[in-house]
Amino acid sequence: MIQVDAKGLMQFINPNFVPIMTNKDRYFVLIGGAGSGKSVAVAQKLILRILKGMSKKKKHKFLCLRKTGPAAGNSIYPLLKDILNQWNLQRVYKVNKTTMSFHFVGGSEILCTGLDDPEKIKSIHGITGVWLEEATEFTHDDFKQLDLRVRGFTWDYKQLILSFNPIDENHWIRQKLFSDDIQAEIEAENQFARKEMTQEVDNKKITYAMSVMHSTYRDNEFLDDVYKARLENLINEDSNYYDIYCRGVWGVLKGLIFEHWEQCDVWPQDFDVSGYGIDFGFSVNPSSIVEAGFRGNDLYLREHCYKVGMTNKEIAVTLFGITHGRMEKPTVADSAEPKSIAEIRSLGHPCMPSVKGKDSVVFGIQRMKQYRILIYRESTNLIKELQGYKWATDRDGTPLNMPVKFNDHLIDAARYIITKLKGVPASLEIIDGSDGKQDFVEAANRETTPGDFAVDEDNDDIWQDF
Ligand SMILES: Nc1ncnc2c1ncn2[C@@H]1O[C@H](COP(=O)(O)OP(=O)(O)OP(=O)(O)O)[C@@H](O)[C@H]1O
Ligand SMILES: [Mg+2]
Repeated sequence: MIQVDAKGLMQFINPNFVPIMTNKDRYFVLIGGAGSGKSVAVAQKLILRILKGMSKKKKHKFLCLRKTGPAAGNSIYPLLKDILNQWNLQRVYKVNKTTMSFHFVGGSEILCTGLDDPEKIKSIHGITGVWLEEATEFTHDDFKQLDLRVRGFTWDYKQLILSFNPIDENHWIRQKLFSDDIQAEIEAENQFARKEMTQEVDNKKITYAMSVMHSTYRDNEFLDDVYKARLENLINEDSNYYDIYCRGVWGVLKGLIFEHWEQCDVWPQDFDVSGYGIDFGFSVNPSSIVEAGFRGNDLYLREHCYKVGMTNKEIAVTLFGITHGRMEKPTVADSAEPKSIAEIRSLGHPCMPSVKGKDSVVFGIQRMKQYRILIYRESTNLIKELQGYKWATDRDGTPLNMPVKFNDHLIDAARYIITKLKGVPASLEIIDGSDGKQDFVEAANRETTPGDFAVDEDNDDIWQDF
């Protein structure tokens, strides 16, 4: 007999999220700022419900969704696995990596998948709960279809859970799910709101409800202080981002930097020139690796790594895996971290520092915009960053000539390698003012050849910036 100490598990749950663990409403919506603890709390709730089922010899079948399968594979699936292990539950489940499914003693299941595989979803029967993680990725139609799949007489309540950052006040979640009353509670930054709906069926009044929890980083006791400071500082960078990610209230999507890009299903093998960019992270920011490839007028981007807690050694090992040990293509990393670059080089993988200077960010962006941008479809984090990457505005909403420095790790990595591959102007100041326009055009048009990037470990020039 497997004993699980349910009370003991409460120590792992953020106190402010405890009420969601027992909420039984048909819909539970978690709207909130970045790092508020939404995803962890939902994953915990689903596992607690499975444990409850186990103790009663009953089964659950939960569907945990992102819009695409790859996104599910690098977010909810590892998250659930981490929590099961943190809770020492290895003895009560088996995992199938290929199908991203967890199979529990007693027959309960958690299936992680993407909505990009509708056939797979259709073939799943007896769903007792659905989690739409990053729910703003889904359409209203997706939601309605899923809502219809959660039905039947079951031993326990059935629930659809949505979790997301409120990126755009025109989103269907705001427009269709939130009544004015609920919206007022969120604006007031109250933690819980609830709406009951009544429908007459066969002369009987049926009542069901939607609960909304609003959260910010203040609700997460496990978040580090630097990240909190980072969120608070958004007030000085962009009021819209401050609303969305710090206050967790609806923002507006405007001033996007990359409005035109496409997804591609196939990663070409015949680039004119290509290479890898690295942005270092650690505890909160993910270490990010992007491959950029140019073919004619097309710029292809592919995310290879987006993970917190990576040591430089792990980054080097990942690089060896990505490049298959062939090192003929340039690898460029954030020059603000010379020690990390040196360590990766000492571990045997070439790595050059990025060129930084006044306006290098804007220059890199302009460079990217000269091409048709194609993003490899599995690059889900990169796609998310691009969808939110915007020009900063001052407190009056006046656009500033720089992007908001937030959720831009993969884009930064891409910029480093792109700037390297497509040339760097002699002085990055040239994009200031009209005097430098000609220089800018020349610099932007200056192509570099792959031969420029033969990595020379002893080339001191690479290090001259330090
Ligand atoms: N109960 C918990 N126990 C331990 N760590 C936690 C817990 N809740 C949150 N955290 C930590 O806080 C981080 C942020 O939490 P989480 O990912 O759940 O936030 P979120 O609200 O989903 O953020 P986002 O809006 O950015 O998706 C986690 O990566 C984890 O490190
Ligand atoms: Mg989350």
